[in-house]
Amino acid sequence: MIDLQVKVVKNYAEMSKLAADMVADLLKRKPTSVLGLPTGSTPIGLYEELVKRHQEGLDFSKVTTFNLDEYQGLAADHPASYHYYMEEHLFRHINVPREKINIPDGAAADAIEACRMYEEKIAGVGGIDLMILGIGTNGHIGFNEPKTPFGSTTNLVSLAPATIEANARFFEREEDVPQRALSMGIKSIMNCHKIVLLANGEAKAKAIAAAIQGPVTEALPASVLQLHPDCTFIVDEAAAGDLDNE
Ligand code: GLP
Repeated sequence: MIDLQVKVVKNYAEMSKLAADMVADLLKRKPTSVLGLPTGSTPIGLYEELVKRHQEGLDFSKVTTFNLDEYQGLAADHPASYHYYMEEHLFRHINVPREKINIPDGAAADAIEACRMYEEKIAGVGGIDLMILGIGTNGHIGFNEPKTPFGSTTNLVSLAPATIEANARFFEREEDVPQRALSMGIKSIMNCHKIVLLANGEAKAKAIAAAIQGPVTEALPASVLQLHPDCTFIVDEAAAGDLDNE
């Protein structure tokens, strides 16, 4: 049985607001929530909304965060690193305590060990209450590219050429995009208690249709979410464009 919920909203602003509502509701119910957070262009509007709501009183002082992924080999102060992104778009604007922020360490000398410890740390806080996801045009979630085993946990992964190309816009040259990343695995994502996936724009329409209405297959990582008991897709009309609504 497919439990997936799909909410089609008008545009990017509506997508961001609805996602922020879900985060805010959770934090009001459970101030000590553990949040899983993505990067990319998709969640920027959500983070802007959360910053606004924090200025209006939303409290992050008891929240713990785990980011999904980080490029290997980029220091935290590299402008294209996800450490830097999170700082710029969210963390420096809200009151989440430094020691409760977790991002895979892209500069770790032993990346495999860093991944193992990351997974342990997530388990140590009792798992992630709400994981927010974006989606790659090839259906990847986190940096879990097509063919990633559904049983994978946080690990060192190789980026697909399509992902390198898509993310080149954040770097000076395409050759500067790291070829590897530390990413929570598919199983780490499926273990989260609740998942919300965000997608906007026509470029995501094929991946969204395949993830929601295609077969559950490792060839399209996001399709695994059909098997999650509490997963909501929030997509704008453009990203919903290829969905069959019979
Ligand atoms: C990267 C990230 C993903 C993200 C994807 C889509 O590859 N690792 O977590 O979902 O890009 O990015 P965007 O939101 O910019 O389309």
